[in-house]
Amino acid sequence: MSEIKFYYGENVPLEMHKVRVVQKLNLVPVDRRLEAITEAGNNTFLLKNRDVYLDMLTDSGVNAMSDKQMAAMMEADDSYAGSETFTKLENKLQQIFNMKYFLPTHQGRACEHILAKVFVKPGSVVPMNYHFTTTKAHITLCGGIVEEIFIDEALKVDSTHLFKGDIDIYKLNALIEKHGADNIAFVRIEAGTNLIGGQPVSLKNMQEVRKICDTYGIMLVYDASLLADNLYFNKKREDQCKDMSIREITESIAGLCDIIYFSARKLGCVRGGGICTDRNDVYMKLRELIPLYEGFLTYGGMSVREMEALTVGLEETMDENMINQGPLFIEYMVSELQKKGVPVVTPAGGLGCHIDAMRFLSHIPQSEYPAGALASALYIISGIRGMERGTLSEQRNSDGSETYAHMELLRLALPRRVFTLSQVKFAIDRISWLYENREIVKGLNFIEEPKILRFFFGKLKPIGEWQTKLMAKFKQDFGNSL
Ligand code: F0G
Repeated sequence: MSEIKFYYGENVPLEMHKVRVVQKLNLVPVDRRLEAITEAGNNTFLLKNRDVYLDMLTDSGVNAMSDKQMAAMMEADDSYAGSETFTKLENKLQQIFNMKYFLPTHQGRACEHILAKVFVKPGSVVPMNYHFTTTKAHITLCGGIVEEIFIDEALKVDSTHLFKGDIDIYKLNALIEKHGADNIAFVRIEAGTNLIGGQPVSLKNMQEVRKICDTYGIMLVYDASLLADNLYFNKKREDQCKDMSIREITESIAGLCDIIYFSARKLGCVRGGGICTDRNDVYMKLRELIPLYEGFLTYGGMSVREMEALTVGLEETMDENMINQGPLFIEYMVSELQKKGVPVVTPAGGLGCHIDAMRFLSHIPQSEYPAGALASALYIISGIRGMERGTLSEQRNSDGSETYAHMELLRLALPRRVFTLSQVKFAIDRISWLYENREIVKGLNFIEEPKILRFFFGKLKPIGEWQTKLMAKFKQDFGNSL
């Protein structure tokens, strides 16, 4: 994709696919957008899709599927138990990860639920490169403690470190010594570290972590939801991977893990999930909970059609020309925004473009949710729906005080192969305008705050009249344009 040069020097990613099915979009007027975000309690999760122009909330379950995936859905073998479709999927996973056992689930957090129930006891510690919201919630619900042992560079928003998702080996050793190996449920590595900007983990780091796990007899669990992006970065950025195929890198990673689990809403571009392992003892423990919480062992809550499409999607993930689309579009968006001075997470990672709300809205304190305010403001001026990934996405401490997030990010996900470059350019245009007018934007306050995962359905209101002022400035500058 990136290898194709434009004769006149323009540096843009060129798609290696064509669009054969389209969905009509609407960009509703700015007055309606202000009304819609107010109805949604300034929570972009609560917007109705009919009011959204570019849905950059997530890439979860909304990546474009290929013609081959759609075709595969038509030949699904439907049965509660023992369907041929399941066997195909199981074989594909065995082939890709070289692991004997596969347990299907309805999505990624279901894997986390089951892993936490089986391996996390009250007081157990789970070291990891970084938490994901649902991961942490499941571990803490079982009485476990999440310990993030990221490298110092991980939280530097503006960085040139190529693998900000790496675990700090020194901290890992120290943590195990402190708590004792018996109190460590498992070490978790998340591919394409979601909450710090889709930052990858190097194969080298995983090899080092494995050594430590071997020394202490601790399991290594890999969250492969964002594996596709991570593989692309391994191949492009890591010396030992340069001459390896994507398939070989995948096998090398898998060979280091006791358990791999994934959200197939991301990996494989469908809707589902699963847990793979080569260890019979682990399989036997996890297996019991699948029929209880998910469904029988040959579907685990997934429809057979999705499983057929997943088998194809996993194979397509082994194609560099398929997995490079996301990272290349993201890199384009990040570098264009940087040229306009907009603070973004660098280096560009996977998943999406991450805007640094802490710097973008440096006049808003974390107690007033700058990333949430930015998500709301961007929607009002563009119809683009992003996702707050900052303090709102954290849980309060038991004494009611806030846990201030390490980073205040507005994540603009680029679901794979969904948006065109002109739509990305529209986003860049509106974000740049907002940056020039950032002083108008102020903070948010809760009016309704759920106790668990509050970002999903909590409601907030603007502090002061800033949203009407923002709309007025938009009308002044954009005239009749939507
Ligand atoms: N792990 C990671 C790294 C994820 O990014 C997600 C989901 C999950 C686990 C849970 O998987 O949604 O299938 O239950 N991330 C979505 C997102 C929700 O928008 O980033 P799930």
